[in-house]
Amino acid sequence: MSEQSNQDVPEIEIAQIVACAENGVIGVDGDLPWSLPDDLKHFMRSTKGHAIIMGRKTFESLPKALDGRTNIVVSRSMAKEGVGENVLVARSLDEAIAMGLHESARLGRTTLWVAGGGEIYRESLEWTYRVVRTRVHMEVEGDTRYPELDEGAWSLVSSEAHGVDERHEVGFTIETWIRDSVE
Ligand SMILES: NC(=O)c1ccc[n+]([C@@H]2O[C@H](COP(=O)([O-])OP(=O)(O)OC[C@H]3O[C@@H](n4cnc5c(N)ncnc54)[C@H](OP(=O)(O)O)[C@@H]3O)[C@@H](O)[C@H]2O)c1
Repeated sequence: MSEQSNQDVPEIEIAQIVACAENGVIGVDGDLPWSLPDDLKHFMRSTKGHAIIMGRKTFESLPKALDGRTNIVVSRSMAKEGVGENVLVARSLDEAIAMGLHESARLGRTTLWVAGGGEIYRESLEWTYRVVRTRVHMEVEGDTRYPELDEGAWSLVSSEAHGVDERHEVGFTIETWIRDSVE
């Protein structure tokens, strides 16, 4: 490939998308601790048409693979066959990222989403450039947490608040954090 055509290949960023209580909790008993339809809509809108990486436990918490996306499931135990046409199984995070970059390029997307859960967020954070984190304004008990972001290494670039209403018993704020460049 010539130098020129290398420059034409768009860079693909790895981004995490997560909803997290004020105390860091993201999950309880294999499920989400809340029901926030507008946050779910935001998740669906953001990831539509993209490749998304998730851990086996998160995949199993879904009623089915997410339509209109390539679901890349990281698992040492899951069978690779018979998982559905929009599902790929990776045996390691490295393999999942390689598959995800390839799929993102095929789909013409410049963001590869990481959609949880706790283990996968933690393991992939060092490769992550952007975090889209919904801060759910409550403290809740749970068994799965999101790692704390070192606010000296990340900058908050946007923030959008959503109040309590008849469909949302708790308010939330969708924040976008970008990793500060390392000189
Ligand atoms: N609030 C949110 O935004 C959000 C988003 C996603 C999930 N969640 C919640 O998070 C919870 C699930 O998170 P979790 O931390 O328990 O599990 P998880 O990260 O979804 O999945 C863990 C599994 O991924 C596989 N895995 C992890 N690292 C691997 C590696 N390096 N190589 C190969 N396989 C690897 C293993 O599968 P095998 O055991 O098959 O090897 C492991 O058991 C649920 O409660 C879910 O609802 C919340």
